[in-house]
Amino acid sequence: MYDTESLNKSLSWNQDDLSRVIEGLNEDGFGVMQSVIPAQICDSMIAEFEKMAEEQISENTADPLKYSNNINTIAMGQHMVRNVMLRNPEMFMPTIDIAPVMAVLDAIIDDTVILEGSSANNAVAVDGNYSRLIHIDSNLAPADPTNTLDVVAFLCMSDFTATNGATRIWPKTHKSGIQIHRDPAYKDKVPPGHVELIAPKGSIAFVLGHTWHQMGENIDHTDRWVLLNHYKRWWIKPSTDYTKCGPQVFEQLTDAQKVLLGFNSIPPKDQVLRYKTLIKVDEIPGGYEEALSN
Ligand SMILES: [Fe+2]
Repeated sequence: MYDTESLNKSLSWNQDDLSRVIEGLNEDGFGVMQSVIPAQICDSMIAEFEKMAEEQISENTADPLKYSNNINTIAMGQHMVRNVMLRNPEMFMPTIDIAPVMAVLDAIIDDTVILEGSSANNAVAVDGNYSRLIHIDSNLAPADPTNTLDVVAFLCMSDFTATNGATRIWPKTHKSGIQIHRDPAYKDKVPPGHVELIAPKGSIAFVLGHTWHQMGENIDHTDRWVLLNHYKRWWIKPSTDYTKCGPQVFEQLTDAQKVLLGFNSIPPKDQVLRYKTLIKVDEIPGGYEEALSN
């Protein structure tokens, strides 16, 4: 079984941190738990990200389940390696259901939640060629936070500083009802009032999917690695069909991970046996093939 339990034991956080983050998410659209993940774990994850990033550049044919064609964004300041938990499940699958993240999701989204995506992301200094869009991640911009569709957990493996590409966030825009990247009124404009997501290594920042944000510019050439785990309501399609993970990955999943990867929200194959898409976690068949064909 992928070992979320021992990862959980190494984390530093408490109920006050949780309450502060929930308040921040409701009031401002984001919140930070400082220094949760031990530096040693961050460093070993960064070493693995660096290896994957190099492999990604050198691979001629990318496996679409693990990588995307994001190599072209490196020139503009962002190096992204998608689905790290499929490439190295032993190390990264436990990050998708760690306790502080599950507690925040539980408080913010009153629904079954799945993983939208999990990607390692480095801010790259590109001296003048930096160009990243101000955007929201959500498919909709509900003005009422109780209708939040998705939450992004930023597992900050490096320090996030003012000069290494810390994410820019526009507080309270989660109540604006505006999808900034699709709204002609904001075309080529930088709205005032952003803050930088400054946080020490090991922090976990949470951002609602409809809060305006932008990847920051790295001007000091130090790496700024983050693991972005993005979660959404179960009835929205994820960016990868994680039920295609294969039997080897499936057999080691915890129940919580099976839910996050979508194994209890597969549309029924036989509508005589079942007509609803969402099933209880203990109704997921034990075998991989059975789980896919029930
Ligand atoms: Fe984003």
